[in-house]
Amino acid sequence: MVRPIEARFICSVLQADQFPKTNLPEIAFIGRSNVGKSSLLNALLGSKGLAKTSGKPGKTQTINFFEVEKKRYFVDLPGYGYARVAKSVKEEWGRHMMAYLQDRVSLQLIVLLLDGRHEPMDNDLHILDLLEEIEKPTLIVTTKIDKVKRALRKKQQEITRQALGLDEDALIIAASSVTGEGLRDIWEVIRDL
Ligand code: GTP
Ligand code: MG
Repeated sequence: MVRPIEARFICSVLQADQFPKTNLPEIAFIGRSNVGKSSLLNALLGSKGLAKTSGKPGKTQTINFFEVEKKRYFVDLPGYGYARVAKSVKEEWGRHMMAYLQDRVSLQLIVLLLDGRHEPMDNDLHILDLLEEIEKPTLIVTTKIDKVKRALRKKQQEITRQALGLDEDALIIAASSVTGEGLRDIWEVIRDL
């Protein structure tokens, strides 16, 4: 696990005009509902409950800003692909999310989380396409890797890589918020930005 890192909750907002005005670089965590975004954010900070997590999908419904070591922001985003959310809400989600990802000048890195146990789903591929259009640096992290048998991890990673159409040398970090695997590698990417 990571040693506790100085971090504090700043605000929880729904739309662009409420975003904090700041020049600090931002790192946003995006992915399907329940993939483990809020958990990963907590694990990276060595904190248990800074970001709210839940066993049920659809926990994070707003854009949540956390200031980290007074020098960057982590941004916990609502998940996509939650079947029980009405279509109108999903469309609104898409608009808010894309507006944030596209227009936020201080956004330095987008961390796209994928469930390490399964092949990426169509909505993951769709989001990756959108991220490629935006042309912001994106890091792919496969989560819940503690649930994948060690012997199968490499193969699972390869399946993900192929499904995403990524080169052999493209970085995919396998991580677990439970065991702490991969967290150092993610920090390395963040600190190297
Ligand atoms: P939304 O806010 O709904 O979009 O979900 P989220 O992506 O923020 O997921 P969250 O962090 O709330 O975690 C969802 C569930 O997955 C919780 O029950 C977590 O305990 C569990 N979980 C998250 N990360 C891991 C992990 O690395 N390993 C295991 N085994 N479980 C995890
Ligand atoms: Mg969440």
